[in-house]
Amino acid sequence: MKERFVLITGGAKRIGATTSRYLHEKGFNIILHYNNSELEAESISNELNKIRKNSCFTIQGNFNSEASINTLVEKVSNITETLDLLVNNASSFYPTPIDTASSDQWKDLTDTNVTTPLFLIQALALYLKRANGCVINISDTLIKNGIKEYSLYTGAKAALEGITKSLAKELAPKVRVNGIAPGAILWPDDKDLSDKEKESILKKVAIGRIGKPEDIAAVIFFLTESKYTTGQIINVDGGRFSF
Ligand SMILES: NC(=O)c1ccc[n+]([C@@H]2O[C@H](COP(=O)([O-])OP(=O)(O)OC[C@H]3O[C@@H](n4cnc5c(N)ncnc54)[C@H](OP(=O)(O)O)[C@@H]3O)[C@@H](O)[C@H]2O)c1
Repeated sequence: MKERFVLITGGAKRIGATTSRYLHEKGFNIILHYNNSELEAESISNELNKIRKNSCFTIQGNFNSEASINTLVEKVSNITETLDLLVNNASSFYPTPIDTASSDQWKDLTDTNVTTPLFLIQALALYLKRANGCVINISDTLIKNGIKEYSLYTGAKAALEGITKSLAKELAPKVRVNGIAPGAILWPDDKDLSDKEKESILKKVAIGRIGKPEDIAAVIFFLTESKYTTGQIINVDGGRFSF
């Protein structure tokens, strides 16, 4: 059977790590990008390579640096000439109240959430075309109605959604481009939400619970199989109401 390759950015932790393992189980070879999480990346790689030899490769890259992105693309080209799937998952996320929001923050939040995804698609388009592959850009269900004190992050993700729809038209029919907009899947690592705050978020979720990373990984896999779906942003948010 033909080998299938996926590049997943930010693949060492949280949703990215679960997606790496999930797609590996479905038979993909994993090219796992990480930035700071080298230990976690190497640990997943060892785990997956024990299951199937030479089925997981790790590449470091900081999306705040153009040179680092070029190196990432070059390293991908040393691994494979075809790419079945690119998952733009890496992201930075923090509040930027408008009184103190800075151009450095804007640069950082756009670098990770939209600029790098865009230029990775550009650099890897030929690889994706050769495989009739697809791109999945990970957005956020909350951006449609805005998030107080997160205007820079929401602006970056909104741009990512616009790019998703436009490139779906431009890269068709060979390459499909879709997005997934997760709701509350994992609480942020660095933000201590009180039980009361968590409860108030969950009250807005029809399914009544926080999501699981597997819920996102399953829709990523579904989109790889859905050959007649492109230009869509799929909410995977348990039916989150907007207030
Ligand atoms: N978690 C949720 O409930 C939720 C909700 C809505 C949307 N989402 C979206 O779903 C995706 C995954 O969410 P998550 O919570 O699992 O992500 P996360 O932990 O916040 O971030 C994923 C990875 O992004 C990488 N990253 C951050 N800054 C980077 C930079 N400058 N250069 C390269 N990589 C960088 C980090 O890699 P290293 O660790 O290797 O440094 C990190 O592990 C994101 O796009 C997020 O916006 C998540």
